[in-house]
Amino acid sequence: MSLGSPRLHLRSVGSTNARARELAEGGAPHGTLVTASEQTAGRGRQGRTWVTPPGTAIAASVILREFDDLLPLRAGLAVADLAGGAARVKWPNDVLLDGRKVAGILVEARAPDWAVVGIGVNVTGVPPEVADIATSLERDDVEGALTELLAALARRVTQPATEIVAALRERDALLGRRVRWNGGEGVGGGIDASGALLVETGSGTISLSSGEVHLLANSGT
Ligand code: BTN
Repeated sequence: MSLGSPRLHLRSVGSTNARARELAEGGAPHGTLVTASEQTAGRGRQGRTWVTPPGTAIAASVILREFDDLLPLRAGLAVADLAGGAARVKWPNDVLLDGRKVAGILVEARAPDWAVVGIGVNVTGVPPEVADIATSLERDDVEGALTELLAALARRVTQPATEIVAALRERDALLGRRVRWNGGEGVGGGIDASGALLVETGSGTISLSSGEVHLLANSGT
């Protein structure tokens, strides 16, 4: 089923996710899209903020009424599809190009009623002060990129789970890399069948099913 209709486009908004959540609570249908040219209070994961400078990036939130626990991973893969064959996914869903973040995803849900998939993609460029950690698609058509993203997301949200896990394994930015999370440190050991991240530690392999990990610099291949 296609995504992106009905669509509410705002020149400027605090957060497209916040607006989409309100619409979802109000009964908006599956596929409803909220976009903005600028966000003034964009929200990231773990309480972080997310900056969307006017006209340079996708800031989009899609309401889904049918979804599963793999939704955050599915959204990351859809963005990787948009970003091309060189894109890697840093579990759970940061999308990297050349080791730098090109997009961020914030999924908020009140299961089983609704989920809001919030996606921010740097399209035309990034401010020089963040160029060491962030990059963009280096395209000039934000709207064209959004159309491709919605098509990729529609495909990924209906794909069988086994194929999602297989696709993630092919794009895994953490495999064999040293990582840290709030419980310790280890080496990325792949993705299991449930979509959890495996980490090899001195005391065995553990699996992380939620949260975030940090890639440690110079951790080798
Ligand atoms: C992250 O990497 O921490 C996630 C960032 C998610 C940003 C997007 S931009 C569109 C949507 N609206 C928001 O307020 N946040 C998400």
